[in-house]
Amino acid sequence: MRIALLGYGNVGRAVARLLESRRNHLEGIGLYPKLVAVADSRGVAINPGGLDYSKLEEAKRSRGSVGFYPDYGRIGVKAVEIISDRLVDVDVVIEVTPTNIVDGEPGLTHIREALKSGLHVVTANKGPLALAMPSLLELAHHTGRGLMFSGTVGGGTPFIRFAEKCLAGDRILGLEGILNGTCNYILSSMEDGLSFEQALREAQRLGYAEADPSMDVDGWDTACKIVILAVHIMGARITLKDVEVKGIRGMTKEYLTEACKRGSTVKLLGSVDAKRGRAWVAPVEIPRNSPLAVSGNLNALTFHVENLGSITMIGKGAGGIETAHNILKDLIELKMKLQYRSI
Ligand code: HSE
Repeated sequence: MRIALLGYGNVGRAVARLLESRRNHLEGIGLYPKLVAVADSRGVAINPGGLDYSKLEEAKRSRGSVGFYPDYGRIGVKAVEIISDRLVDVDVVIEVTPTNIVDGEPGLTHIREALKSGLHVVTANKGPLALAMPSLLELAHHTGRGLMFSGTVGGGTPFIRFAEKCLAGDRILGLEGILNGTCNYILSSMEDGLSFEQALREAQRLGYAEADPSMDVDGWDTACKIVILAVHIMGARITLKDVEVKGIRGMTKEYLTEACKRGSTVKLLGSVDAKRGRAWVAPVEIPRNSPLAVSGNLNALTFHVENLGSITMIGKGAGGIETAHNILKDLIELKMKLQYRSI
């Protein structure tokens, strides 16, 4: 499986590291991933024979771009050219450039071009899906290619797969939960005495926050995930503009302390209510013994299901390696789908 990795930030680097460190395991299950192209915002590295993780890291660390990869790096070449100019033969594009919710770019073009060129796509980029999910799914269907995105929601926790596989046949009436690790980390740390700014800096240092952290604190990251869940597992036809969004900017330690005294905790929740046709994101005071009252960078999501009742799933929701694992899982699933011709 020849792979082009578009985006070499926190998640992209973790993907490259994981493909290298899990090589034996992957080969054992018949998956032979070969990283033939890697792109960041300044350049690309391309080698049909495969790129070496340590050399990618060295180029990125010492000179700031994979475009400085020895012999195979090219500064100034854009990621999209790998696909549109067929700079190398590729089977799968892994799209992990930063989320942009204004126009979805450059991820949206990468995904469209890849599908139109007959390539499969695995992505953890929420912007293109939140803005154009129905049309991207149609394009994937039309071209007969895989579009896998389980890393977009829940980081390392398989919320999407759980809903798809384990709730199949039942009807999801609604869902609500914590879908942003950064905000949950900030709110938990503020309860422990840190200021908003200190907690945000720490979340950035730990690699939880988006490149533009206002995406996290103003609620847009949660809103993107709500759209992806609503469209994909509840069959809603909504995009980002249909979600009412309020973030946690302006939250004070005093407010959190008062909530604590009332036996509550404050969480940034996202919710979809199919019956009322409403999707929203807002900070909400919930009882401390609620299953959603998880701390740190954890995510927690409750599904309200017609016959099965309410089910809550908890797990890590942010971080490079956690998201990279979900991407790897998608690659394995893609291989199985191709094997059984079920795309
Ligand atoms: N910034 C996101 C978060 C990363 O904090 O949850 C995972 O989507």
